[in-house]
Amino acid sequence: MSMFTLEPLSGSFGARVTRNTQNVHAWVSALEAAQSDLLTPLVEAGGLLLLSDMQSISAEPELLVRISRLFGPHVEDYRQTLTGSHRIHVDVPEILLVTNKQPTNQQPPKQPDPPTAEDGSLPLQFPHRRGWHTDQSYRRPPPDVSLFYAHEPITAKQGQTLYANGIAAYAALSDDLKAQVDNLQGLHVMPWTRYSEEAVRNGEEPMPLLPHQQPQPQPVVRTHPVSGEKALYLCESGQMDWINGPLVGLEPGIHGSGAQLLYKIMSHYTHPDFVYAHHWSAGDLVIYDNRCTIHAATWFDATRYEREMWRTTVSGNPGALYDGESPSWIPKDADDAERMRGIENV
Ligand SMILES: [Fe+2]
Repeated sequence: MSMFTLEPLSGSFGARVTRNTQNVHAWVSALEAAQSDLLTPLVEAGGLLLLSDMQSISAEPELLVRISRLFGPHVEDYRQTLTGSHRIHVDVPEILLVTNKQPTNQQPPKQPDPPTAEDGSLPLQFPHRRGWHTDQSYRRPPPDVSLFYAHEPITAKQGQTLYANGIAAYAALSDDLKAQVDNLQGLHVMPWTRYSEEAVRNGEEPMPLLPHQQPQPQPVVRTHPVSGEKALYLCESGQMDWINGPLVGLEPGIHGSGAQLLYKIMSHYTHPDFVYAHHWSAGDLVIYDNRCTIHAATWFDATRYEREMWRTTVSGNPGALYDGESPSWIPKDADDAERMRGIENV
């Protein structure tokens, strides 16, 4: 008997996974025993899965790590990547806390300006919507898949997460734009290091970066290592280097030809035709493939609400392009490791 069924999640992409049992613990154990593969449904759905009613994870967080292992060989241990301890689950170091609670105190993004689209709906498209990114794109090799679990979500029509389909967006590019991006590289950098478009616009002094913190080039078009399909792979304001980039070989800076092309690509990538907006319920688990999707958080009223989401990150299959590379973000000496503390590396 099949352990789950799949149905389309939205008109844009994604699949909803329905389990054959209410018992999450038993279901995960059965998947492990059968070596059952959730990666294939993820890839076939364009890189987005939703599992609902997974509240058992809150009582048994290790379940999230076990589910994560169904998607790839390596689940990140955040203690080993110098993430601040206030951002790591106290019992399970593979879980990154995304929360406005103390002591993490991560604030939601600002509201778009204006806060709604012309028809009153939630703004989706860049540059009206800001914050679109794919996780850890400033690392080489970059990760494969993230799992995002709603331990304590916002359910009041705020705090949604938006996901965009990079395979469909690439396929829909004009031939002219395809020719421009096919061999192009973006220059990605750790957020909060003041290389963002906003920081450059505000004249902020960029942080000096150590060897393992340097901006990393990544192809704007990636070939998915499982499906072989091409997908757009790019971020916008906060995770690109707007001083030396954002696009390698094009005029740099916020007024350069690289900036203009990035705006064109990211506006296309985040067109509502390619976007799914997830409104969270407690116990939801969304699994997204960072190799072929981007996502963005939305504002919530942090003066009224507390939110706590849990994330794991799976890596190990970035594609042949990265064969033989050692991790760019691991310090080579202890001094670098010590100085890196305090910089958010998520
Ligand atoms: Fe993210």
